[in-house]
Amino acid sequence: MAQTNGRLAGKVAIITGAAKGLGEADARMFVREGARVILTDVDRENGERVASEIGEMAEFRYLDVRHDAEWKALVDDVVARHGKLDILVNNAGVVELGDIETQTEKDYRFIMAVSADGTWFGCQHAVRVMKENNGGSGGGSIINMASIASVQGESAVAAYCAAKGAVEGLTRAVAVHCARQGYDIRCNSIHPAGILTPMVIEVGRQAALMRDPETVSGGPLVKLGEPDDIAYTVVFLASDESKFINGAAIRVDDARSVIAGNP
Ligand SMILES: NC(=O)c1ccc[n+]([C@@H]2O[C@H](COP(=O)([O-])OP(=O)(O)OC[C@H]3O[C@@H](n4cnc5c(N)ncnc54)[C@H](O)[C@@H]3O)[C@@H](O)[C@H]2O)c1
Repeated sequence: MAQTNGRLAGKVAIITGAAKGLGEADARMFVREGARVILTDVDRENGERVASEIGEMAEFRYLDVRHDAEWKALVDDVVARHGKLDILVNNAGVVELGDIETQTEKDYRFIMAVSADGTWFGCQHAVRVMKENNGGSGGGSIINMASIASVQGESAVAAYCAAKGAVEGLTRAVAVHCARQGYDIRCNSIHPAGILTPMVIEVGRQAALMRDPETVSGGPLVKLGEPDDIAYTVVFLASDESKFINGAAIRVDDARSVIAGNP
């Protein structure tokens, strides 16, 4: 286990989509930094396995982020059992290949429901309880997982771009609202490029099957990042080290979105 610095000591966190990929890496790093973590996912088998591997500071709870009632029950239960919620990572997301001419309405609605609706419900319930933290003066950090897809517009995943654009805009609205209300709740979005996770492996496989040379990670020869490349940024935004960062959209993409605009 890597050395811990206790940067999240005493904090209670919910991470969605934590059964694998980026959410799993976040959960492992959060506990190393001293947080109590509630891993949530629709993949019960992997979620329970990861939580039990992490140990007593982690627990798994089933949560389909598309359903408001499930969010309410989960958040209320976490506050009842652990006294508070300090951190929410809205990480769950799905992608299906399709451009504006080929993507089906079914895929569009599915992708929007998980990323856009799920992040919406998560923000609503997190703000509801985080504003009661610290004896009513409020406090907390919400981290929303967007993508460089919302920055550069990746034509092969049109609905995914729409969903991540919704996440990015909502992040700013939540940040401004909480700042104006004096809640001391921060809300920031992270915009990764291709990171080696089950999602990217599956999309790469589908793209190859469709003989499409352009993948969501920007082409077949791009360098992929590791899940911990994102987790380090999530931990920073979750910790008090980032207390003056609010409403930011942080690209973690090895200059991918910047290179795209260069001659
Ligand atoms: N991996 C990348 O390169 C990359 C790049 C940009 C953004 N992202 C975003 O980061 C997040 C994590 O991506 P990943 O690569 O780890 O994906 P992944 O597919 O490897 O893992 C996503 C997890 O979300 C869960 N999930 C799916 N639908 C859900 C639902 N309705 N409710 C709860 N959980 C659900 C899945 O079961 C899975 O465990 C996603 O929002 C993704 O869009 C990833």
